[in-house]
Amino acid sequence: MKVLVIGGGAREHALCRSLSLDPDVTALHCAPGNAGIAEVAELHPVDAMDGAAVARLATELEARLVVVGPEAPLVAGVADAVRDAGIACFGPSAEAARLEGSKAFAKDVMAAASVPTGRSYVCTTPEEIDKALDAFGAPFVVKDDGLAAGKGVVVTDDLAAAREHALACGRVVIEEFLDGPEVSLFAITDGRTVLPLRPAQDFKRALDGDAGPNTGGMGAYSPLPWADPKLVDEVMETVLQPTVDELRRRGTPFSGLLYAGLAITGRGVRVIEFNARFGDPETQVVLARLRTPLAGVLLAAAEGRLADQPSLVWHDDAAVTVVVASHNYPGTPRTGDPIEGLADVVAQDAPDAYVLHAGTRLADDGSTVLSAGGRVLSVTATGKDLAQARERAYAAVDRIRLDGSQHRTDIARKAAEAEAEA
Ligand code: AMP
Ligand code: GLY
Repeated sequence: MKVLVIGGGAREHALCRSLSLDPDVTALHCAPGNAGIAEVAELHPVDAMDGAAVARLATELEARLVVVGPEAPLVAGVADAVRDAGIACFGPSAEAARLEGSKAFAKDVMAAASVPTGRSYVCTTPEEIDKALDAFGAPFVVKDDGLAAGKGVVVTDDLAAAREHALACGRVVIEEFLDGPEVSLFAITDGRTVLPLRPAQDFKRALDGDAGPNTGGMGAYSPLPWADPKLVDEVMETVLQPTVDELRRRGTPFSGLLYAGLAITGRGVRVIEFNARFGDPETQVVLARLRTPLAGVLLAAAEGRLADQPSLVWHDDAAVTVVVASHNYPGTPRTGDPIEGLADVVAQDAPDAYVLHAGTRLADDGSTVLSAGGRVLSVTATGKDLAQARERAYAAVDRIRLDGSQHRTDIARKAAEAEAEA
């Protein structure tokens, strides 16, 4: 089948890599893509936000399946435009993508479906904001209601900073602080049947030891040796299936990838957030472990046939991904610097490691790869356990040279230690 992927980050590179390894995929296209995706897919300079243009491209290419990666086009209705053109699309409608596009909407759905989440207030005035901040006390959790590219959430002990962020948001969700480790669990759904993937953990803060500002994610790993083996079943029953059922009941079924961001608190599992798409960088490690060819599963979800789909098959391997970011990320990043050593990553002494591109582009000479965004690359590796996957990922990171770049050195460290003790 011919597949068109929309987007151009490391998540889309991971999706394209898996699709390119699927024997059922006869042609792979991506719009707009990046310098790394160009190695496995044909790129098209089409704006991911332009539903009509995406639908036109899919029609021209005679795509059997379109996969929309990022949240902004989903919230803007790009999947609807593709489906209206009669082409199967993996990704929710604009209505269903509000689960990510509006934190207040997500809270409303969770309340209706009795899904466990933090208590919260939706505020629009300074008086409401002060009342809510006062009710919860520190640490304060303040969330912009709308999409904010991973930068809408402030968690702080500083009342003045919490207040300032809340006032800048317009409509804001102020929430109880949830303590405990975070887990990302993805599920593929056709709006009725829900197929959970393997849990992963993301590292949101910029610096080692979970210090520094929030980012889009600096690394991830899977499996989680410390997690309760019953976690996936529990989240299926208390979070994923009820949410999918509630959206179907409302007449706006959610089909695509439902991402539950969870806190494992002392009082049980709580939803921190929903996303309406594969998460980045967790996708890099989850797909590295998936053995079932990807295209057929995504097509079955897009066509409402997941109930007939055999169970997913997984590798026993562990996977670790480390994000290499530009100088000054998550502030305004420096871009346009050459990236060297990419070919060395696939050298013989770095088995099972590969680079997934995020913010990169080819220089006019057609061969030099330049940094073009905050998160530049995601170096992913697999191994027999987390320690080996980690070692391979960091060995590969050390081969890459990008002036001023930064990465965390502690991705999956604690989990690898816990695994070694077990
Ligand atoms: P979000 O954009 O909703 O994923 O939030 C970004 C990050 O902020 C999360 O991954 C958490 O680390 C943190 N966060 C969000 N909500 C809460 C909460 N209620 N309690 C504690 N931390 C939170
Ligand atoms: N890993 C965080 C996100 O994709 O939103």
